[in-house]
Amino acid sequence: MAESFDVKLEDTEYTPDSSYLKESWIGDYQTAYQRFLDDPDAFWADIAGELEWFRPWDRVKDWKHPYAQWFVNGKLNITHNCLDRHVTSANRNKVALIWRGEEEGDERVITYRQLYRAVLRFGNALKKLGVKKGDTICLYMPLVPEQVIAILACARIGAIHSIVYGGFGASALNARIRDAKAKIVITADVGNRRGKRVPLKSIVDEAVVNAPSVERIIVLRRTKPQLELYSEMELDFHEIMENVEPVCEPEVMDAEDPLFILYTSGTTGPPKGIVHTCGGYMVGTYYTTKYVFDVKEHDVLWCTADPGWITGHSYIVYGPLAAGATVLITESVLDYPDPGVWWRIIEDFGVTIFYTAPTAIRMFMKFGDEWPSRYKLDSLRIIGSVGEPLNPEAFEWYYRLIGKSTCPVIDTWWQTETGMVMVTTLVGDTMKPGFAGKPIPGVVTDVVDKEGNPVPPKIGGLLVIKEPWPAMMRTVYNNDERYREYWNTINTYYTAGDLAVKDEDGYIMVLGRADDIIIVAGHNLGTAEVESALVSHEAVAEAAVIGKPDVVKGQAVKAFVILKLGYTASEKLKSDLTYHVRMSLGPIAMPSEIDFVPSLPKTRSGKIMRRVLKAQEMGIDPGDISTLEE
Ligand code: WTA
Repeated sequence: MAESFDVKLEDTEYTPDSSYLKESWIGDYQTAYQRFLDDPDAFWADIAGELEWFRPWDRVKDWKHPYAQWFVNGKLNITHNCLDRHVTSANRNKVALIWRGEEEGDERVITYRQLYRAVLRFGNALKKLGVKKGDTICLYMPLVPEQVIAILACARIGAIHSIVYGGFGASALNARIRDAKAKIVITADVGNRRGKRVPLKSIVDEAVVNAPSVERIIVLRRTKPQLELYSEMELDFHEIMENVEPVCEPEVMDAEDPLFILYTSGTTGPPKGIVHTCGGYMVGTYYTTKYVFDVKEHDVLWCTADPGWITGHSYIVYGPLAAGATVLITESVLDYPDPGVWWRIIEDFGVTIFYTAPTAIRMFMKFGDEWPSRYKLDSLRIIGSVGEPLNPEAFEWYYRLIGKSTCPVIDTWWQTETGMVMVTTLVGDTMKPGFAGKPIPGVVTDVVDKEGNPVPPKIGGLLVIKEPWPAMMRTVYNNDERYREYWNTINTYYTAGDLAVKDEDGYIMVLGRADDIIIVAGHNLGTAEVESALVSHEAVAEAAVIGKPDVVKGQAVKAFVILKLGYTASEKLKSDLTYHVRMSLGPIAMPSEIDFVPSLPKTRSGKIMRRVLKAQEMGIDPGDISTLEE
């Protein structure tokens, strides 16, 4: 792991109009954070008390490092809070989901009441198939309302869902089905992507070979003529909902019963099955949806992730529905049929809160300003980012072109393991491009050296979380030792594996993964930092850098660059870029080599896989590349 190191920080700031702060749920940061510090348990009890429990908890938490229990002996069902709570109120006919397909006009609007009825029926259908509390169900579905219905139906009856993103291939799916011992796989005949059909069911057919736990495959059949189902084992999604009772009482779950497993790709080793539980996860995602995204009665929230990622679990499904929001989902990718489609969706549906990833923002920068400029984006109130560092250039573009220099930009740092947003700049607070922000009230973070000593401002170090929080993962499925490592690597803290730096005001800039660090002549460089410098050049759309062995410097920086439309690769441009990095970060960060490339290897969630570039560069085996897109 990295030692501490110096970091150059920018000092631009933007403060949103004071009405944002005044009208926000959270209010002033200091006051809210102090309220948490004064009595952490009371702070979380107040939030949990906004939700409905079948039996109250005895204690807010029991913490025996590294194991936490939250809302001890509390009984609940998360779907009661996502559905029943709203359908028994004036919100029963409020829109829960707006779905838009790839085609213009292909739309579905589903109210809370309709969603509730569908979930109850599907829950009963699963029960009829013999599914019991604690069974694992694998979902491998496109982004359609039925996916949300299936997720909630599992939670309704206490089955543990393991969602596998529909972009994964058969062997990745097989490994996840086997590890979780899934009893049922729920899929669709096809997913739509860029006008093409992805044959999900055929991939499942391949993936269930050698997966003896699988008893049934439930298929959502979208195309005509309908895909044929071949054996007793295969069932139609809608048919099984027909002859069942419309009432399905929620399973009474203990706060610590597992809610789901979600596999996250380690940079090395096999994927880890991160386990989240019912009570703490519900409270954490509800809290952050309401107090970080500041969701209000009339908001339309669009999180562009897929439910196959934690971002989708927390901010498409559980958090927003627990908070009673209207959620937009779409199967549409960002550049099909043209790069204006997402902005058209915002205009058409009056989206007020938009949450996407830096990689998408940088793609849009590449397509050019004219695309967002063609559409009315004035419904937008808050815009957010997650998944990678939001480099200052991308921040500026996002803030100006999409947020019209008005919307707060919430750059949220968190992980599959944390379950909920941990660090951000709260709505209304002063934003600093490049910095995610501060730990939210309820969360205690720091930037430390290898021994766990806090490093001073402007000195880089490792991002840790010092205290447990409700939505923290409880274990790694089948690998508790791996879980303990998170809490035993640096002092008694939770190690996030990210490099970060704080400024004097406590704002945290996340520099990238600790394992992506490049050490040039004894100086540590975050890949994100160098990439950010490259991307700040007018010709550059996206960049990835790796450390390449160098006899003199230990490592040298090699950059892979995608140019914006209208720029051509040349030796002259290479030296311009090298000079540009030298001017922004100093000579040690100067790339010794630059390759112009048409694309970069990315995970399906959009993270650049520098490991793959490195392996290619050195002619070595890249290791597990099951998470690589295309
Ligand atoms: C990175 C996604 C910088 C980080 C919710 C983290 C970020 C990993 C940010 C987790 C951000 C996420 N700024 N880096 N705002 N958000 N990351 O599990 O390296 O898919 O450790 O969870 O993404 O990725 P995961």
